[in-house]
Amino acid sequence: MAALFTPFQLKDVTLRNRIAVSPMCQYSAVDGLTNDWHQVHYPSLARGGAGLVVVEATGVSPEGRITPGCLGLWNDAQAEGLARIAASIGAAGAVPGIQIAHAGRKASANKPWEGDDHIPASDPRAWQPIGPSAIAYGEGLPRVPRQMSLEDIHRVTADFVAAARRARDAGFKWLELHFAHGYLAQSFFSAHSNQRSDQYGGSFDNRGRFLLETLAAVREVWPQHLPLTARFGVIEYDGHDEQTLAESIELVKRMRQGGLDMLNVSVNFVIPDVKIPWGTPAFLAPITARVSREAGLPVASSWGIDDPQVAERVVAEGQMDVVMMGRAMLANPHYPYALAQALKLERPDWILPAPYAHWLERYRGAAKTAA
Ligand SMILES: Cc1cc2nc3c(=O)[nH]c(=O)nc-3n(C[C@H](O)[C@H](O)[C@H](O)COP(=O)(O)O)c2cc1C
Repeated sequence: MAALFTPFQLKDVTLRNRIAVSPMCQYSAVDGLTNDWHQVHYPSLARGGAGLVVVEATGVSPEGRITPGCLGLWNDAQAEGLARIAASIGAAGAVPGIQIAHAGRKASANKPWEGDDHIPASDPRAWQPIGPSAIAYGEGLPRVPRQMSLEDIHRVTADFVAAARRARDAGFKWLELHFAHGYLAQSFFSAHSNQRSDQYGGSFDNRGRFLLETLAAVREVWPQHLPLTARFGVIEYDGHDEQTLAESIELVKRMRQGGLDMLNVSVNFVIPDVKIPWGTPAFLAPITARVSREAGLPVASSWGIDDPQVAERVVAEGQMDVVMMGRAMLANPHYPYALAQALKLERPDWILPAPYAHWLERYRGAAKTAA
């Protein structure tokens, strides 16, 4: 049996295999609400056979969205639409997960296919981004964020808690805190974007405080028997990588002590001028393995894992427990079936629901004969 197709248990949740649909913004919402696009997109991916489907970065507040098209979870109408998505993912045999997020200084941007840059401040669709310090990201996202007050910091933590509670009540079984990709939480931990002189900036303890406090507050409302995970960048590729890795792993250890069940290891993306080894398949896998070993918790990761042998290898060699797949799933929502065929599962059709599977394997010979 291919390692990729063995079940994975975390707390009281069992994934039918190690394949997860990575959270991917659809930029297709209005006022943070789901619509037909999301209601079709998510169950389609779940029917493709993945063990876990993580709904895209979902804003904990209007200002926490990346773009005006991002989903939100700050009101009950949004939760109602997301509850239907959680149910349809579950009905297709996958575990429904959701990523809750605050975009920080990268918020108030145009959709990627409409520029991917900050909406000009004069545009009525724009809003004022906030961040740990009044330092802009730069390239494409030049707006200077308003430095958050202590009151702002406590309010955003409370927004994460309220969103987690709504996600729980909407039926999600897997929660991922978006602490990566240069968004608010990641920008608190990075000295590139956090130059505060109060208890939320400066020392390691201070830069990690917002993340640990938010995690602890969410853990209070997210059920103990369900997985609480975070996506967190552990490397910037800015030439100071060993130091960033060591610090990040230390913070992950504290997250584990604070109730984190698993880490989705990623890249920081806090500054634009970095050298990321895009061409190397699964380039984060060795780093992911190190995080798991040194911080002592299960790990998932993604980036450039779109080949059956690579996906199988990273799990079989113990570099990650779950593979988060993004673009391959957009190209083919039934990609897990293709993986099952490539890895020579005895009955690859079992990965798909009966109305599809019945015709794919059982009648394969017959169809050929009839043709
Ligand atoms: C359209 C699109 C939207 C994305 N949105 C998110 C997101 O909401 N949250 C997140 O953590 N990563 C997001 N990502 C990153 C993916 O989750 C994934 O890590 C990345 O695409 C690399 O995996 P891949 O090489 O399998 O595509 C997005 C990527 C794409 C292509």
